[in-house]
Amino acid sequence: MAFVIAVASRKGGAGKSTVVANLATALRAAGTRVALLDVDPQGTLTRWAQVRPATVPEIGFEAAAGWRVPQSVDRHRREDGFVILDTPPHADNDAKLAIRTADLVVIPLQPSMPDLWAIDGTLAIAAAEKKPVALMLNRVPAQGRLRDEVAAAVAERDLPLLAGAFGNRTAFASAFGHGLGVVEQAPRSPAADEARALAEAIRREAAG
Ligand SMILES: Nc1ncnc2c1ncn2[C@@H]1O[C@H](COP(=O)(O)OP(=O)(O)O)[C@@H](O)[C@H]1O
Ligand SMILES: [Mg+2]
Repeated sequence: MAFVIAVASRKGGAGKSTVVANLATALRAAGTRVALLDVDPQGTLTRWAQVRPATVPEIGFEAAAGWRVPQSVDRHRREDGFVILDTPPHADNDAKLAIRTADLVVIPLQPSMPDLWAIDGTLAIAAAEKKPVALMLNRVPAQGRLRDEVAAAVAERDLPLLAGAFGNRTAFASAFGHGLGVVEQAPRSPAADEARALAEAIRREAAG
């Protein structure tokens, strides 16, 4: 049975699509089967899949409007590996349908207090759907105390934080534009190490 992850946040630009592409390619590079569902009508991940070269490992891809998500996920759930859903920022109903199908809701979070405050809406949906959540720090600046401050605030609220975090690195944006993950475009970069660490953390979550 596949493990289903919804990457969600009401905040546009939080890094949902970037995390989906880089988590998927890191899991896939390790030989795991991965299917992606783009639930965001903006279609960022759809564009990524369209420009993805034929020379890299294949990743199942589908764009699905919110109401079609349960059916699509059910179809993939019978397979092995991971199903990862990229979700829209503001369309709460579509995000809710995606979260409802998930085993785990991953919330990318840029390390700042306003960004932490902004996740309450997503946490509320996950709680209403009785789904476990895991926060993941994204765009962590190379320097400064913000990461520790936000991590402390997250711990104070008893919210689980994934061991894998992404730094603020151009490698993520660069790979995305070519339909790749950083593990494919720059396998020996710090960004690729971060993507593999996130994949490891997610594997541990899936193993329970
Ligand atoms: N870790 C990162 N390092 C550098 N740029 C990032 C990182 N994560 C996201 N970005 C950039 O931030 C912007 C928004 O990211 P995106 O994944 O599209 O967010 P969302 O899907 O939540 O709207 C994009 O330009 C993306 O390249
Ligand atoms: Mg997006």
